[in-house]
Amino acid sequence: MQRTVLIGCGRISHKHIEAFARNAARMQLVALCDPLLHRAQAKAKEYLEAMVAVRAIASVSSAAPPRVYADYRQMLEELKPDMATIATESGYHPRIAIDCLNAGAHVICEKPIALSTKDADAMIAVAKARGRKLALCFQNRFNAPVQKARRALEAGRFGKLLHGMIQVRWNRNEGYYSQAPWRGTWALDGGTLMNQCTHGIDLLQWMMGEDAVRVQAATRRFSRPIEAEDFGAAIIEFASGAVGIVEGTACVYPTNLNETLSLFGTKGTVVIGGLATNKLETWRFADAEEYGDTEDKVLDSHAKNPPSVYGYGHGDLFADVLDSIETGSELLVSGERGRKALEIILAIYKAQKTGLPVELPCEYSTTEMAESYSLPGLGG
Ligand SMILES: NC(=O)c1ccc[n+]([C@@H]2O[C@H](COP(=O)([O-])OP(=O)(O)OC[C@H]3O[C@@H](n4cnc5c(N)ncnc54)[C@H](O)[C@@H]3O)[C@@H](O)[C@H]2O)c1
Repeated sequence: MQRTVLIGCGRISHKHIEAFARNAARMQLVALCDPLLHRAQAKAKEYLEAMVAVRAIASVSSAAPPRVYADYRQMLEELKPDMATIATESGYHPRIAIDCLNAGAHVICEKPIALSTKDADAMIAVAKARGRKLALCFQNRFNAPVQKARRALEAGRFGKLLHGMIQVRWNRNEGYYSQAPWRGTWALDGGTLMNQCTHGIDLLQWMMGEDAVRVQAATRRFSRPIEAEDFGAAIIEFASGAVGIVEGTACVYPTNLNETLSLFGTKGTVVIGGLATNKLETWRFADAEEYGDTEDKVLDSHAKNPPSVYGYGHGDLFADVLDSIETGSELLVSGERGRKALEIILAIYKAQKTGLPVELPCEYSTTEMAESYSLPGLGG
């Protein structure tokens, strides 16, 4: 049983609470932390209610609530937890993750891993030195259609992959940014590519071979009241010669439209759409008869979108980390793997700022974007 703490009790933390409850047989939330203590208290109650819902406890009043802290260092010192999940502002992930790893805890960190390649490398190095797991919340890797496409890829069914595309056409309105002032800042967040599109960019590079070599890009701040981009377009070249295309925006009128991953190979075409890469829309393979999965059999016209774009993957992701701790299996989204999407996004930023294609490996940071530079909008 992993004695776990949650650090950061804002908007995404309810997904962690759900994931704790779903994995209640193997992990126990012993404490929550947020400098806004009332948030930690509210989440402690939510946790007990979630535990009742999965029948892990009989009633809220029959169980001791997890403890609450305003200072995570005090919490680590007093409780010495086995595991910590981190759901604070992105810019705080590196410091907090490194402190948790040094305190002996395995870490599940929200995305993006960090806002600079240097910080991500430091996190990965400490995890390695301490022999602790460092996992990243790219929960969409666990979406059923994504897993299905990945199995087809591993079986060689696409033939040679030629190109792939991720479209993230969402709406983040002014209310979203004013709700938490860190959003859209270079110091703590980055723009829509780093925040919203990081999942899709991770999926694209995971499928295309995890070996991006060159990036060209145009990013813009069209209409949102933030420092960083609210739109980005990029071309990613992979070592095989295959090409990835990124289209990401927070400006779609009036609400979220789709997040769609398209993969085009010499012997297979797959499109996974829906609000958050959750719905199989195209499934065509040369060997479909042999596999018994012709398109008419596999497309589910009744597939529903999840209630939020956060989807359902956190529970499976936490289970994957628990499996890895218990059996030594490889993490599906380790720190090293999580770093790849970060590096591509930072290369996109650098390409925009310099006006030149960027070769990978690329060392960069969001704060370098902020130095003597302001993103163009309409009218250049
Ligand atoms: N996986 C996903 O799909 C997904 C979705 C949304 C957000 N996120 C990520 O989750 C993170 C949080 O996003 P959010 O929208 O929940 O932010 P939020 O602003 O709603 O919540 C962040 C919380 O962290 C707290 N915090 C700050 N410093 C802290 C510290 N030292 N110790 C403990 N708590 C601290 C803040 O007080 C706040 O309550 C970001 O990195 C974001 O990119 C991931």
